[in-house]
Amino acid sequence: MPSHRIEAPLRTLMGPGPLDIHPRVYQALTSPVIGHMDPVYLKTLDRIGEKLRNVFATQNRLTHAVPGTGTSGMEACVANLMEPGDAVLVCVIGYFGDRIRQMAERQEVELTVLEGEWGKPVDPERIKEELNKKAYKVIALVHAESSTGVLLPMDEISRLAKEHGVMILLDCVTSLGGVDVKTDEWGLDAAYSCSQKCIGAPPGLAPVTFSDRALEAARNRKHPIRSWYLDITLLDKYWGSERVYHHTSSSTLNYGLLEALELIDEEGLQNRFARHLKNHKALVAGVEAMGLKMLVEPDFRLPTLNTVRIPQNVDDLKARGYLLEKFNLEIGGGLGALKGKVWRVGLMGYSSSAENVLFFLSAINRALAVQGCKTDLSAGSDAAMSELGA
Ligand SMILES: Cc1ncc(COP(=O)(O)O)c(C=O)c1O
Repeated sequence: MPSHRIEAPLRTLMGPGPLDIHPRVYQALTSPVIGHMDPVYLKTLDRIGEKLRNVFATQNRLTHAVPGTGTSGMEACVANLMEPGDAVLVCVIGYFGDRIRQMAERQEVELTVLEGEWGKPVDPERIKEELNKKAYKVIALVHAESSTGVLLPMDEISRLAKEHGVMILLDCVTSLGGVDVKTDEWGLDAAYSCSQKCIGAPPGLAPVTFSDRALEAARNRKHPIRSWYLDITLLDKYWGSERVYHHTSSSTLNYGLLEALELIDEEGLQNRFARHLKNHKALVAGVEAMGLKMLVEPDFRLPTLNTVRIPQNVDDLKARGYLLEKFNLEIGGGLGALKGKVWRVGLMGYSSSAENVLFFLSAINRALAVQGCKTDLSAGSDAAMSELGA
């Protein structure tokens, strides 16, 4: 008889996502499935909206989670904000900025791409020059570019966009819940994230928020929104007071999301950001003291995702395979131009812990040693411990 049991080893997840999940979230996922129009479930959705408003730091009424992963959130923001002929500026400094570019092309916008070096933020001066050239409708950027480990200086960029009256579309997939996302202060018109990173739930939902101006623009388009499923004017009728059936919302995934958001409330957003920063600093201190190098300069490093350069003559796949096989530890490989050149080490949500920092340092020391690359683990753990105040 073939076995139908699911094989799912208990890994430690320290890649770009998904990340480890708190036991309370697992428990929430086993709550009874109920109907998507059940009044009790609709209250659950309302609570999710409320808690997401807190995490996005916004008063936007249209703040919910669309079905699908982060890419679905991206598609929702792009499809609703952009229509054929719109002048759109997309900043590309990594793999995910390029994904936004590809989506914008499919909307047949009048596209300008501002490309920058992978591993550095886009220079606000270049954005300023571009915005001075013509009247853009939308500027699209990735707040936390997880292919490179760079965090964008949004205060400056938002000031420029506001000056020019340009709508901002921001990818917050690797930032929301781990570092500050100031939707209202920055004047974001559309922002999206995912459930499986700093939020701390399984993959399958994409938190999104749209300003009133974005909703108004979506209602007054010349062309219909090129996605029925992700049309915010239709979704608003389900999420809002009309309660018109739109799709069969997954109660299971939304229970998990609500519990993860509850945990964020209990911890407090500022404490959570401080925890992510502290563990990031400990990891960097440890990695550098061991003799390894980070890809990104200190000023632009993303606390939630750390890009560590792979030493010369070390086989990336063999090292990651070793971590998985010997220690049940998952870290990420490089994407696009950085394939084989960096490791992406995620410290997000429940995975952002002192234990995981120390575990990673000792496991990577061993994975490198078996390939003949010596690193100083004792110096690394001392440096990490002192950042951790231990
Ligand atoms: C910055 C960024 N944007 C978009 C995505 C796409 O999200 P998903 O894989 O959940 O569809 C990712 C995935 O890691 C990401 O890191």
